[in-house]
Amino acid sequence: MQMKLTIAGSGSYLPPTTVENRDFTRIVDTSDEWIRSRTGIFRRHFSDGELTVEMGVKAAEKALADAKLAASELDLILVSSVTPDYVTPTVSCLLQGYLGAAQAFALDINVACSGFVYGLDLAARYLQDPSIRHVLLVASEKLSRVTDFTDRSTCVLFGDGAAAVVLTANGPGEELACCLKADGRQAQALTACYPDRNHPFGAAPASLATPPAGKDRMALRFPQATPFIHMDGREVYRFAVGAIEQGIRAVTASAGYQVEQLDWLIPHQANNRILEAAAKRLNLPMDKVYSCLDEIGNTSSSSVGIALDRCRQQGLLQGGQLVAFSGFGGGLTHGTVLLKI
Ligand code: UT7
Repeated sequence: MQMKLTIAGSGSYLPPTTVENRDFTRIVDTSDEWIRSRTGIFRRHFSDGELTVEMGVKAAEKALADAKLAASELDLILVSSVTPDYVTPTVSCLLQGYLGAAQAFALDINVACSGFVYGLDLAARYLQDPSIRHVLLVASEKLSRVTDFTDRSTCVLFGDGAAAVVLTANGPGEELACCLKADGRQAQALTACYPDRNHPFGAAPASLATPPAGKDRMALRFPQATPFIHMDGREVYRFAVGAIEQGIRAVTASAGYQVEQLDWLIPHQANNRILEAAAKRLNLPMDKVYSCLDEIGNTSSSSVGIALDRCRQQGLLQGGQLVAFSGFGGGLTHGTVLLKI
C-alpha cells in the first residue's frame, strides 16, 4: 500500500566521549586489527551519564529546528529504544513533556535494531489519518548500559547515540512498500533480560512457571540470558544477510521496481561484512549502501536514523530518489521500508 510520507527534518546526537578500538585492548583480549577487519568499526561514542531520553531530546530538537516546526505542532511522538531509562514512564512520554508537545500522544516501540524502520512504517500509517499532521520519530540507545565489558565478542561492537526525524503526509514523499517480519523462534540468538527479583513469598519451580519446551514449542527461558547483551554472532550474522536480501527483494517487487533502480540503501549499521554480503547477493554496488559504522559502532535502532541524518547533511539525498531502509536484530526481527523521497 502506498502512503504519503515526507521527511521534513532530521537530527542526530552522539555523546562526546569517543572510545577507539585500541582502548579495548586494555580491558579484553582483542586488537584494533581484529575489530576493524571483522566489523569495519574504528570508534564509537559512549554516554558519560547522559540518559537515553536526554540524548533523544538533543536529536529531536535538531530535527524540529531542521523542519522549522514547533513541538506544539506535533500530533504523535514515537520513540524506539531497547535501553529506556525507566520501566515507566516511557521515553516518549518524557520527551513529550520535556519538549512541551502538549497535543501529541506518545508511544514507545521496542523491536531492537529494527525499531527505526518499524517506526517509519507506523508513522506512515498514522499519517493516513488527517487529524495527524506531524509525527516525531526518535530512536535513542544507551547500549553501554547493557554491554558486558568483560565479553570481547560483544563489547567492542556497540555504541550510544540518538536520531530523530519529523514526518508529515504533506509533501512529495511516499512510502511505496514495506516488509516487516518477526521470528520469535530465533529469540535466543540475541538476549538481555531484566534482573529477576522474586517477591518474598518464594518462587514457583521453573517447571511450573513455564510449559516445557517440546517439539512444537520453543523455550521461554534462556540459560544464557543476563541483564547484559548476549549474542550468537554467527547466527545473527546469517539472519541479517538473509533479512536484508529478503526485505529489499520484497519491497522493490511490491512497488514494481528492480533492485538496481534503488538510489540508496540505508541499512542498520552492525557490520560492514554483513552489508557487503547482502549487497553482493542483491547485485547492488556498495557505493549505493550507506555506511557510517566506522565512526559510531552498532547503536541498535538509532543507527538507521543516524545514517539517514548524515546522508541528508552530506547532501546525498535528492527529491524523487528511491531509498530503502533496512533494520535487523533482536527478537529476531527485521524490517525494510521503501521510500520515494
Ligand atoms: O545489532 C544487532 C544485530 N547484530 C549483528 O548484526 C551482529 C552479527 N554478527 C557479527 O557481526 C559477527 O558475527 C561478529 C562481529 C559478532 C563476530 O564476527 P565473526 O567473524 O562471526 O567471529 P566469530 O564469532 O566467528 O569469532 C571468530 C574468532 C573466535 O575465535 P576462535 O574460536 O576462532 O579461536 C572468537 O573467539 O574471533 C574471536 N573473537 C575475537 N578475537 C579478538 C571474538 N571477538 C573477538 C575480539 N577480538 N573482540
